[in-house]
Parts: sequence; C-alpha cells; structure tokens
Amino acid sequence: MMVLGLETSCDETSAAVVADGRRTLSNIIHSQLVHQRYGGVVPELAGREHIRRIVPIMEEALGEAGKTLADIEGFAATFGPGLVGALLVGLSFAKVLAWGTGRPFYAVNHLEGHIAANLLAHEEIGDHFLTLLVSGGHTMLIKVEGFGNYTVLGRSVDDASGEAFDKVAKILGLGYPGGAEIDRLARQGNPAYIRFPRAIPDPARLDFSFSGLKTAVALYVKNHPPEEIHEHLADIAASFQEAAVDSLCDKTAIALRRTNLPALALSGGVAANSRLRAKLQEICDRLGVGFMYPPSELCTDNAAMIAAAGAIHLMRGERTPFDVNAVPYQKLY
Ligand code: KG4
Ligand code: ZN
Repeated sequence: MMVLGLETSCDETSAAVVADGRRTLSNIIHSQLVHQRYGGVVPELAGREHIRRIVPIMEEALGEAGKTLADIEGFAATFGPGLVGALLVGLSFAKVLAWGTGRPFYAVNHLEGHIAANLLAHEEIGDHFLTLLVSGGHTMLIKVEGFGNYTVLGRSVDDASGEAFDKVAKILGLGYPGGAEIDRLARQGNPAYIRFPRAIPDPARLDFSFSGLKTAVALYVKNHPPEEIHEHLADIAASFQEAAVDSLCDKTAIALRRTNLPALALSGGVAANSRLRAKLQEICDRLGVGFMYPPSELCTDNAAMIAAAGAIHLMRGERTPFDVNAVPYQKLY
C-alpha cells in the first residue's frame, strides 16, 4: 500500500511516501531555522512556517518518489503529542487530501511513529523488543509485543533526555537544538573531567530523571571563571553527555534483564547520539540481545516514520474518522 505521510508536530515540516509500511520512497524534511534566534521553538511561528511549507514539501515528496496524488492509496498525519497549532496544519491537510481523493486516512500517534522508524530501517526486527524512546519531549522504556501492543515500563519523572541536552547546550552557549552540537563537541572532550550526578529516582523502578543533572551543569558553569569554562567546553560537554548516557544505559540494561526480550530498538532524536549508540551496543553485546537504531534522519522528526505507522494501521483496515482533533498531550495508548 502506497501511503503519503505528513509530520508537523513541532519544528520539522516533513512529507514522505512509504510503500507497504516498509520501503521509504521519499522523505523530505524541512527543519525550521526561524526558531534559532529565540533559543527554542516559538509555537506560533512553527504553525505559520508549516502553513507556508506544507504544500511544496508534499509536492517534493511525491516528485522524488516518482508518484502523483492518484498513486497514493492512503494518507497519514501526526495528531499528537505536539504543539497544537503545528499539529493542526499537517493533520488538516492530510484529512483534506484523503477526503478529496476518496482514499482512507489514519491519524498517527507521534510516539508510535518513532517506534515505527525502526521497522523502516530493520526488516529483521521481529514482533517482540524493548524500545528506548529518547526525544526532545519524551524519555520512555517501552515493551513492544507486536505493533500496537505497548507497555510503558519507565519514563522520565521530570525533563526529557533531549530537553536536558538542549538546556545544557544553551547553558554552554551552543546553538539550538543543541543535542547534535554537544555530541560533536564531546568527541574532543574528556568524559571523566567532572563526575556529574547520575540520578536514580527509585532504584526499584525503571524511571529516569534529568533535571538534577541539568542543574549540576548550570551550577558548575556559574561557580567557575568564564575563561576556564571556555577552555574546557568540550570536557564539560563530554562529562554531561557521559552522565546522561549512563543514566539511560543503566535502566535500559535492567529492563533488558527483567523482560528477557530478544532485542533493543533505540528511537527518537537522541537516538542519533554517538556515545549512547556505542554504550548500548556494548550492553547488548554483553547481554546477547540484538541492538538496532534507525539512521539519523529517521531518528529526529520525519514523515517517513509517520507514513510507516499509518500504513500498518491502514493495511489492517483501521481508519480514523475525519472529526479527529489534534491532541497536544496525547499518551502512547
Ligand atoms: O525526536 P525529535 O526530533 O523531536 C521530538 O519528538 O522531541 O528529538 C529532538 C531532540 C532534541 O532535543 C535534540 O537536541 C536531540 O533530539 N538530538 C540529539 C542528537 N541529535 C538530536 N541529542 C543528542 N545527541 C544527538 N546527536
Ligand atoms: Zn519526535
């Protein structure tokens, strides 16, 4: 089934064509630059930029896939979670396209989209696996027992992991979003330069916490002379990253041991982090479980993962009524 997917939940305007929920024919992603000067996403500007870009980006996605609207057999768009004014653009447009062409429509949960990114990248993924979903808005350990059957085992009790990367990047005077920048800078730094705290909210649970780590970095920067911070920027970035990655890895290892699942699938924007990938690979090798993650362009927000998730539901005969609304705080079922 040929599905056109749209993703506009935050500051990426994206359209993609995916065949049978598995093959990406095109995946056009426009990352809005308008927010950079504000150091964070401005919701109203995001919505306006989506409106300006959605039609040309959809046309580009069709063109690159070598398809026309007549070839599309189903439409999918994110309905939540995300910024309401941003979500409404892609959601309304997908509804219009489905209604106008008489083709079926499915409204996709953005979090399920991130899980589906691994289905696009790994044919061999199987039905049962553990997902560590790490993004700008979420940090979750999810037991997957077939597509659509999820049990949330743990989550962040405060900041999301990507949010911590972005806030620390801001404290260190790096650009926005800062996750990739910290990753790049940390490669030249010493991860053992400072031992920042690894929070364990409740040792018996699989939850995470990142706000204390962020505050520890802020206090460190405040209590040291600017020249020293400047000279050791890469060391501080590497030390922060090491603490964040250790927290994620510790709970993931416990979850893998507890659940006995055969594989770990990493997803979400922070899944692009090179240190996180390397450390999780070591853990999975040691435990003898499979490890997969999507290529970086499928880790951060993109429409291919939304089209893939939508396609699986549509191929099962599931349809979303046109009166569905955008849901900013939508949970993963
Ligand atoms: O999944 P995503 O594109 O958007 C949400 O659904 O939130 O994730 C964006 C997050 C941002 O916080 C960004 O800083 C982070 O992913 N990110 C990274 C890296 N690339 C993106 N964090 C750490 N290392 C990276 N290489
Ligand atoms: Zn996302």
